[in-house]
Amino acid sequence: MARLKDKVTLITGGAYGIGRATGKLFLEEGAKAVVLVDISAEGLEEAKQELSPLGEVVTVTADVSDDEQVKNFVELTKERYGRIDVFFPNAGIEGEVAPIPQQKLEDYEKVMNVNVRSIFLGLKYVMPIMMEQNEGSIINMSSVAGLGGSPGVAPYIASKHAVTGLTKSAALEAAGSNVRVNSVHPSPIQTRMMESLEAGFNPEDAEAAKEQLEAGIPLGRYGTSEEVAQLVLFLASDESQFITGVQYRVDGGMGAS
Ligand SMILES: NC(=O)c1ccc[n+]([C@@H]2O[C@H](COP(=O)([O-])OP(=O)(O)OC[C@H]3O[C@@H](n4cnc5c(N)ncnc54)[C@H](O)[C@@H]3O)[C@@H](O)[C@H]2O)c1
Repeated sequence: MARLKDKVTLITGGAYGIGRATGKLFLEEGAKAVVLVDISAEGLEEAKQELSPLGEVVTVTADVSDDEQVKNFVELTKERYGRIDVFFPNAGIEGEVAPIPQQKLEDYEKVMNVNVRSIFLGLKYVMPIMMEQNEGSIINMSSVAGLGGSPGVAPYIASKHAVTGLTKSAALEAAGSNVRVNSVHPSPIQTRMMESLEAGFNPEDAEAAKEQLEAGIPLGRYGTSEEVAQLVLFLASDESQFITGVQYRVDGGMGAS
């Protein structure tokens, strides 16, 4: 399979979970290179070990909420490969579980910085490169939490709604240069993040929290990182070349009710 043949791809939050699974799929689909960015050097090392047999993997340890560091990893990719075809800003954090009056301002700001500022900065530095090459696909990581509310995680919900706004604006700004910008909106997916949220929703019985969440998903289970990666692959590939500015759910049917 070679749906990404010769494409240079850049993924943030690539050390674990959905980011790593997407990097793996990109290489299996013939990507020329996958640049994985993450704050966890240890996780990046593990990811590199796993993915390197499949193709070219470059890892960069960086904080996606830092202006200079984002500028640097985008420049590094462009300098090394001469172009960036696919950008998947996926790094994110869940924040604390608490009702709004008990949320701390510093936690709210941290969530907004890692989940939104990061995507703003990524767009700011990647869009000019793609617009100049007159080609490119950006897939912003949002969530079902970017399309509706949910009690206890207001900063996360607000951050993921902001990603939807950035996606629509960027899509309109870049369309004239043949650059596409879409967002993906997963339901609960089996990763570290959901384990942390389950413990936050029900500190005494995280398994009960999981069962309750699964009961709200018509297909009756969490999704997998690989299932999200398949959607990202479609949006990254030329198969979606007439699609931009769209919010794609990968949610086991949650959006149907
Ligand atoms: N798991 C879910 O249920 C779910 C559902 C919808 C959306 N998402 C979104 O998917 C994305 C990936 O999450 P995941 O589920 O794979 O969880 P995860 O915790 O396994 O992955 C998040 C990755 O982002 C990295 N990261 C965190 N802060 C960073 C920073 N400041 N700079 C650079 N990297 C940083 C982490 O080290 C980690 O590798 C997140 O944006 C998350 O909000 C997850």
